[in-house]
Amino acid sequence: MQKVHAYLKKEYPRFLEELKEYVSLSGVSARGDKQEMRKCAEWLLAHCRALELNATLYQTDGNPVLVATTKNNTAKKPHYIVYGHYDVQPPEPLELWKSPPFTPTVRGGKLFARGASDNKGQHFAHLKAVEAYIKTCTPLPCDITFVIEGEEEVGSSNLSLFLQKNKKMLAADGVVISDTNMPSLKTPAITYALRGIAALEVTLRGSDRDVHSGSYGGSIENPAFALAHLLATLRNKKTGKILVRGFYDGVCVLTAKERKAMHEGGAEDAERYRAFLKVPCLFGEKGFSHIEHTTIRPTMEINGLTSGYQGIGSKTIVPSCASAKITMRLVPHQEPQRVITAVKKHLMAHCPKSVTMEIKSGHGAEPYLFEPNSGEVRAAERAIKRVFGAPPRFIREGGSIPVVTDFKKILGVHSLLIGLALPDDNAHSPNEKFELANFKRGMVLSAELWKELVL
Ligand code: BES
Ligand code: ZN
Repeated sequence: MQKVHAYLKKEYPRFLEELKEYVSLSGVSARGDKQEMRKCAEWLLAHCRALELNATLYQTDGNPVLVATTKNNTAKKPHYIVYGHYDVQPPEPLELWKSPPFTPTVRGGKLFARGASDNKGQHFAHLKAVEAYIKTCTPLPCDITFVIEGEEEVGSSNLSLFLQKNKKMLAADGVVISDTNMPSLKTPAITYALRGIAALEVTLRGSDRDVHSGSYGGSIENPAFALAHLLATLRNKKTGKILVRGFYDGVCVLTAKERKAMHEGGAEDAERYRAFLKVPCLFGEKGFSHIEHTTIRPTMEINGLTSGYQGIGSKTIVPSCASAKITMRLVPHQEPQRVITAVKKHLMAHCPKSVTMEIKSGHGAEPYLFEPNSGEVRAAERAIKRVFGAPPRFIREGGSIPVVTDFKKILGVHSLLIGLALPDDNAHSPNEKFELANFKRGMVLSAELWKELVL
């Protein structure tokens, strides 16, 4: 084991250069550029093969899935899947980046680049830990299969099919994922709940072209106004409650004791949270704290809103259309399909006759929740304590990792969510970064974890 740790230490400068190369490959799944995604997947394939992993790229209807395993079926060992995603979120707006998103730059012990922490840096740490075992000829306590996909940021719908088709190959004792947050550099965490998601896009159309607002304005509906009114019917502006009939159906209610526990043990106070986000004041569903708003309550967000002229200066038109991208975050026991149906019904009932409406439903994922009291969780707890010098906090988080419920349903195994990202890593924002201290500790943690997972 000493050899493994010495290797991780000695080879670290090279690992950092490799990670920089990895994050310099864009891989924005939302753009739908198959070439771009394949290039990234192929880099990963070559990298895994150089580590003597048995690695294959599987084509799907979307982007390729990389499967790379240490398994050679000689010794019977516990088998764990390490899941990650090589796709990243769009980097826009580009002008807000201090260094370009795909020109990885180290400043103050942090690696800045799109994908640095979400998620390339995090799964790369696991890959390097396995490399250390292989290259020092130290027997791995477990067999490990990396499943790294290219569609997490757009809902992972093809991965679900892939798991169904490859159930046998992927039969495992559990899944380990580093794609979540820890509260701070000093406070590691095990995440035991994630929210689900449901996405849709609504477009309102008036005239078949933008027209002169002086000649025609006033005689026809302005789709931007119609959309603004329509969207306003979705939420009570004072209480923040979502006004869609049936939206809260089935939402699981926590006991007073559980709610109290969520606010103990160093949970961030509201004022610090407000100051971090630089908002004039917090806003959220009445009767719940900001911690609850972002974990145990369902929400609706407008992610993007488009209509009319967006260039410099003015343009006097009545726009022909207006559209909004909307997502809902879901908690147990809401179902994506039912929520989408309810929102569609609401939009149809409230849309004025002066425009036509098109609704496209997008990806969906179910919420995830598990009791963190298994042998695997205890094993992870021991490894985390040793490496971070502090016990993990057990947290619920508001983000989604669609495949975790598929791992449970299809392969019958839970996912151990051990995040190496920080709340201020700027995931999905400009200037995303990964703390190199966490890259290093992540590798050591991974190396230690495989030892502990031999139960
Ligand atoms: N790493 C996140 C998931 C995450 C974020 C977990 C914050 C816990 C806290 C992941 O890459 C992600 O962003 N997922 C998407 C999934 C969606 C597009 C289906 C998300 O949550 O928006
Ligand atoms: Zn993400």
